[in-house]
Amino acid sequence: MEFGLTEEHLMIRDAAKEFARQELLEGVTERDDKGIYPAEQIKKMGELGFMGMMVDPQYGGGGMDTLSYSLAIEEISKVDAAAAVVMSVNNSLVCWGIERFGTEEQKQKYLVPLASGEVIGGFCLSEPEAGSDATKQRTTAIDKGDHYLLNGTKNWITSAANAKYFIVIAATYPEQGHKGINAFIVDRAWEGFEVGPKENKMGMRASDTHSIMFTDVKVPKENRIGDDGFGFKLAMSILAGGRIGIASQALGIAQGALDLAVQYSKERKAFGKLLYDHQSIAFKLADMETEIQAARLLIHKACWLKDQHEDINHFSAMAKLKAAEVAMKVTTEAVQIHGGYGYVKEYHVERLMREAKLTQIYEGTSEVQKIVISRGLIK
Ligand code: CAA
Repeated sequence: MEFGLTEEHLMIRDAAKEFARQELLEGVTERDDKGIYPAEQIKKMGELGFMGMMVDPQYGGGGMDTLSYSLAIEEISKVDAAAAVVMSVNNSLVCWGIERFGTEEQKQKYLVPLASGEVIGGFCLSEPEAGSDATKQRTTAIDKGDHYLLNGTKNWITSAANAKYFIVIAATYPEQGHKGINAFIVDRAWEGFEVGPKENKMGMRASDTHSIMFTDVKVPKENRIGDDGFGFKLAMSILAGGRIGIASQALGIAQGALDLAVQYSKERKAFGKLLYDHQSIAFKLADMETEIQAARLLIHKACWLKDQHEDINHFSAMAKLKAAEVAMKVTTEAVQIHGGYGYVKEYHVERLMREAKLTQIYEGTSEVQKIVISRGLIK
């Protein structure tokens, strides 16, 4: 059993840390306040190789393992979780989905620009009436011979206004339930593709979340990913990996909040001594650290399983469940330790607390993770 990080892991972690400190920290509060998408920063992340970290170098990716990716997401999320979600969706949902299930032509045409960060990708599964119950797709992709005709509305789409290519899940044979669902690569430039207004979110306000409406969008036959009717399993398989990204994001948010709380407790005095010297605060910090380390172990195990090409469903769900719960608890305590200063924007912890909440919701709520975990116990 090996718990250490290699030299390469440490280099990647340090590079992400440095990038976050140099390029993301300044302006993060303003971007969050005003809901400004970090376009310039995302472009630089692409140039540095953060947008296609696990993609095979033959398609322009970094060829790195999942742990490297997790470490980078953690570091970016400590500072700017909104930038991290754009990175996570591009890497583990879109690039991974096309690399794992796409044809060679699809990889050359779509994966290559996505992996380099030249363009970014989005993933369209959720709908107004198909959130946790993802089999209830109302969006249809009807077979018209040489193309599919795509109609419907997708909700909560990360990067909707900025991504170029989207993996879209839709029902081709609605009467067949999940077996009638397909997955497609859709280009936003196609006629009938329309983006709704930006959602006014509680947190991660700089990432652009919108609905997307498809009206008679013609999707060429060759843009279906995988066999006919494989779309639901493809989406589930992609999400199982995606949950490692969101778990790593939650971990970064929690670690960022703990780091700030420790720092503050070493500077702030109350009742004649530093906060750190109050046992009530020291015990909180100890609990926060213990919970974070437990979440990290689950995440790293999920990364390891993925790199061994083992089934990750169970562990990625546990990693996401645990890390998101820990992020919520730790950020709430970090606000408490900061007192009134925790409730204002200057100290960052209130933003981290708002960001933590979303990690319990997207890429499957905590309740969805519990469905996956409990089913894993009885299968
Ligand atoms: N890989 C491959 N196949 C899988 C799979 C996986 N990880 N998980 C399930 N399947 C297969 C099952 O084996 C089953 O196949 P068979 O019928 O042949 O046996 C089929 O898929 C259906 O599985 P279930 O019966 O388990 O499906 P279900 O309807 O009971 O749903 C669920 C299970 C876990 C609740 C699922 O619907 C789910 O994960 N829902 C949440 C969806 C979600 O995470 N949405 C987030 C949107 S993306 C997002 O947030 C992106 C963003 O922009 C940030």
